[in-house]
Amino acid sequence: MRGRVVLGVSGGIAAFRAVEVLRGLVRAGCRVHTILTENATRFVGPRTFAVLSTDGAEASLWSDPTNPGVDHVALGRGSDLLLVVPATANVLAKMASGVADDALTTYALAHRGRLVVAPAMNTAMWRHAATQRALATLRERGATVVEPVSGFLAEGETGLGKLAAVDDIVGAALAALPPRGALAGVRVLVSAGPTREPIDAVRVITNRSSGRMGVALAVAARDLGAEVRLLAGPAVPAPPGIAIDRFETAADLGRLLGVHGADADVVWHAAAVADFRPAAVAEGKLDRRQGPLQLTLEPVPDLAAAMPRAQGRPYLAIFAAERAADLEARAAAKMAAKGADAVVANPIDEPGLGMEEARNRAVVLTRLGIRREFAAQGKEALARELLLALAGEVVAARRR
Ligand SMILES: Cc1cc2nc3c(=O)[nH]c(=O)nc-3n(C[C@H](O)[C@H](O)[C@H](O)COP(=O)(O)O)c2cc1C
Repeated sequence: MRGRVVLGVSGGIAAFRAVEVLRGLVRAGCRVHTILTENATRFVGPRTFAVLSTDGAEASLWSDPTNPGVDHVALGRGSDLLLVVPATANVLAKMASGVADDALTTYALAHRGRLVVAPAMNTAMWRHAATQRALATLRERGATVVEPVSGFLAEGETGLGKLAAVDDIVGAALAALPPRGALAGVRVLVSAGPTREPIDAVRVITNRSSGRMGVALAVAARDLGAEVRLLAGPAVPAPPGIAIDRFETAADLGRLLGVHGADADVVWHAAAVADFRPAAVAEGKLDRRQGPLQLTLEPVPDLAAAMPRAQGRPYLAIFAAERAADLEARAAAKMAAKGADAVVANPIDEPGLGMEEARNRAVVLTRLGIRREFAAQGKEALARELLLALAGEVVAARRR
């Protein structure tokens, strides 16, 4: 994946050319989500963009009544580049002054990545002081302006204001994307969250895992250029733009690891899998009037150890939550017992860290002998550091 782009299309006569720009971006390996202004839809059909965009298209903040209208904020976190083609005089002025009165300009305010605009308009609008002031403001904020060229304009006259060539716009967009990440092209499979083992039709045995560490790994891997799939347990939030499969029980997760593990270069097995499950699931709902209840629990087969791997692939990184006192010894034993390539050891008995918490500290050990300590920090930052620390071993293992 080359990068994540939000393509903004505003209401100028050149809006149809945005379709070619979209094709160019997708051909170059970008993920693209398109946002059209309402006026853009008077020039081109949103359906064309919806079909050709890898991540769909929208033309209104309000089109989906089940969408509370905050998705642009999540989208803003995940995309590398906002590219506006064509950028009308109106949209440039609104973006420069912070007006957010439609889906595109609202997104523009939430966007954190780079901005590239390709204006197109008649010569008078282009030369107007208001337009030039808006462009100067956007440039001051770091935007790239792909300048319009001279040519035959829609009004039937020749002058400055014609949209730049499609190849120039695509080239400027690709140049603005962050360099390919440390995990470019690496296929990463992450498991996250708790399992739920049924006792009867309504009751379960589960654990306190929030899935936050696994989600942080998936998001950080995506941002480092990896192709990511997340296997997520109950109630684990789905991060935007990441392929996700849901599991409930350890057996479900085992099946998913079997199916997707074969396609992965690395598996980060961060799910908190049950060690025990009820030996039999009671039919219907157990009734307390039947008196005391004794559950027989059976051990759950070790999923990491059972994961199908040929010649040590995929690279397998597991987690070990242990008492701080003998953290490393127990983690090293766990790595050996499961045939894992790396283990992330974290303490279960230090306040404010670990399960259900936003922060963690870790010691990473690998089979090849790396030992690295990571100080207590937010799980998002820790995830990125863990991925980078093991990137070398993971990339080397791909070549085996
Ligand atoms: C036929 C036609 C062509 C237009 N072409 C342009 C154009 O190329 N550039 C521009 O800035 N405005 C153009 N406009 C004016 C915009 O559509 C108008 O300013 C609109 O409010 C822009 O809305 P938006 O920026 O929300 O998409 C055109 C209008 C019409 C009716």
